[in-house]
Amino acid sequence: MDVEKAIRERRTHKAYGPRELDRAELEALFELARWAPNHHLTNPWRFRVLGPETRRALMELAEADKPGAAAKLARAPTLVCVSALLSGGEDPSQDREDLLATAVAAYIVLLSAQARGLASYWRTVGLLDDSAAARELLGLAEHESVLGLLYLGDPVQEQRVPERAALEELIGFLP
Ligand SMILES: Cc1cc2nc3c(=O)[nH]c(=O)nc-3n(C[C@H](O)[C@H](O)[C@H](O)COP(=O)(O)O)c2cc1C
Repeated sequence: MDVEKAIRERRTHKAYGPRELDRAELEALFELARWAPNHHLTNPWRFRVLGPETRRALMELAEADKPGAAAKLARAPTLVCVSALLSGGEDPSQDREDLLATAVAAYIVLLSAQARGLASYWRTVGLLDDSAAARELLGLAEHESVLGLLYLGDPVQEQRVPERAALEELIGFLP
């Protein structure tokens, strides 16, 4: 698949087939993600694939935090926590760059998944910022900032294409 097609056709999916991605498929996505641009080559990105035990425990914490929240963590067969390892304020400029670079890496995972015929979803999970128990469960370091959970799996339905703003609202050509 060419890049333009993958960019255009990637959609946020909230329903998936039951097949889990295997280790080789996941490693192929992460191997591509680490080619994201990265000032000072700090390699800030971290990818944690949630196994069944971890997912179950996270669902329990989510449900205790907000009834009904656990079900949302059961939607995809494969969940990946993407985080950026930061300095914790020692170097705010590098931290900002590392956070941005990690967002690019997360997008590469989604785009590469799309190119392989997979469905995906980037989801913010506040619990991974706020809950010490959830952070401990995933083994997150103190200065590790979670960008979200990436949901991955086989597509089962067509997605609506959300509108984007018109190009002229977004761009300027400066003299
Ligand atoms: C950083 C980030 C966080 C997101 N978090 C959520 C989320 O928590 N819940 C959600 O429904 N969608 C979330 N999304 C997905 C967007 O809602 C989705 O990309 C948007 O609706 C456009 O749809 P598309 O991805 O199909 O183009 C997130 C996307 C990004 C980039």
